[in-house]
Amino acid sequence: MKEKLQAIREKAIASIGEAKDLNTLNEVRQELLGKKGELTAVLKGMKDVAPEDRPTVGQWVNEAREFIEGHLAEANKKLQSKALEIRYEAEKIDVTMPADEVKRGNLHPVSLVRNELSDIFTSMGFEVFEGNEIETDYYNFTALNTPDDHPARDMQDTFYLSPEFLLRTQTSSGQIHVMEAKKPPIKIISPGKVFRSDDDATHSPMFSQMEGLVVDKGINLCDLKGILETFLKKLFGDGSKTRLRPSYFPFTEPSVEVDVSCFQCQGKGCKLCKGTGWIEVLGAGVVNKKVLEGCGIDTDEYSGYAFGIGLERIAMLKYGINNIKLLFESDLRVLSQLDD
Ligand code: PHE
Repeated sequence: MKEKLQAIREKAIASIGEAKDLNTLNEVRQELLGKKGELTAVLKGMKDVAPEDRPTVGQWVNEAREFIEGHLAEANKKLQSKALEIRYEAEKIDVTMPADEVKRGNLHPVSLVRNELSDIFTSMGFEVFEGNEIETDYYNFTALNTPDDHPARDMQDTFYLSPEFLLRTQTSSGQIHVMEAKKPPIKIISPGKVFRSDDDATHSPMFSQMEGLVVDKGINLCDLKGILETFLKKLFGDGSKTRLRPSYFPFTEPSVEVDVSCFQCQGKGCKLCKGTGWIEVLGAGVVNKKVLEGCGIDTDEYSGYAFGIGLERIAMLKYGINNIKLLFESDLRVLSQLDD
C-alpha cells in the first residue's frame, strides 16, 4: 500500500509540473483528488484493509492527500503570478512613446469665406435669409425683370427641371421672397448655392453666391458704394480702394461691376490683376423700380440697392487658387492647406 501511495505522489508531482496554466492545473486537481481520482479509489478500498491496519493506512492516505494539495497550492500560486505577468506585459503602456497625431479637420475655403462675409455683414446690421435652391422661373427671372428673350434665360445657362421649375442661377431670387414676406426697412444677406450650365477653369456648374439687399427710405448708389467700401476694406485690408464700373443687370438700374484695388501689388499691376491694378469682385446696383413695384413696395417712398458676390471667386483670390475645380475635388492635400 505504501508503495502504491508513493507512486500516486510521484505521478501527482509529474502531472502538476506539466500543467502550464491555471485551467490545466484545475483539470489535474480533478484527476488527482476528484471522485474518480486514484486517491479516492484507495479510500474506497479501505474496507478491504484489515481493521487493525486501517488507522495507519488512513493516515498514509491523508498524508498523501496533504502532500498533493500542498504541491497543487504551490503550483497554483506560481501559475497565478505567471498569468498576472503575462497580463501586465500585454497591457503595458509606454508613457514615453510619442502620442498618435490627431489630425484636426478644417472648414472648406468656401465655408471660411462665407463665414467671414457673414460676420462682416451681420456686424453692419444685416440679417441672414436662407433662400431655395429650386425655384420657379418667376422668382429666378420674371420677378427680377428678366424678359423672356434675355440671354440669361437661355437653356444653355439654366438647368430647367420643368418648364416652370429650375435650379436657381443666382441668389437674387431670394430678394423677391424677402420683399414679398417683409415690409421695408429690409437689410439682408442671403448666401447659398447657385447653378449654371458652365464649366471651365473659373466656372463650375455649381457655385456659391452671397446676395445683399437693402430697401429703405432714401437709399441710393452712394449708400451702396459706402457699404461695399467698408466691406472690401474689412475683407482685403484697410488700404483697399473700390471702383464702380457701369454694367447691366435687368433687376438693377443703374448697375455696376465693383473692382477692388489689387491686394497683391497694391494697384501697381501684377499677374493676379492681369496688370490692371484692379480685381473685379462683385456685381451690384440700385434695385430696379419695376422689381420693387412687382413686390408691392411703394417706390415713391422706398428705394434699395442689391449686390451679389461669388464666394468661390473670393476664395480663389484669397487663397491664390487658379482653378475652381480644386475647390470641388475634395482633395485633402489641397483643402488642408487652405486654413485660416
Ligand atoms: N445676380 C447677379 C449675378 O449672378 C449679381 C447681382 C446681384 C447683380 C445683385 C446686381 C445685384 O450675376
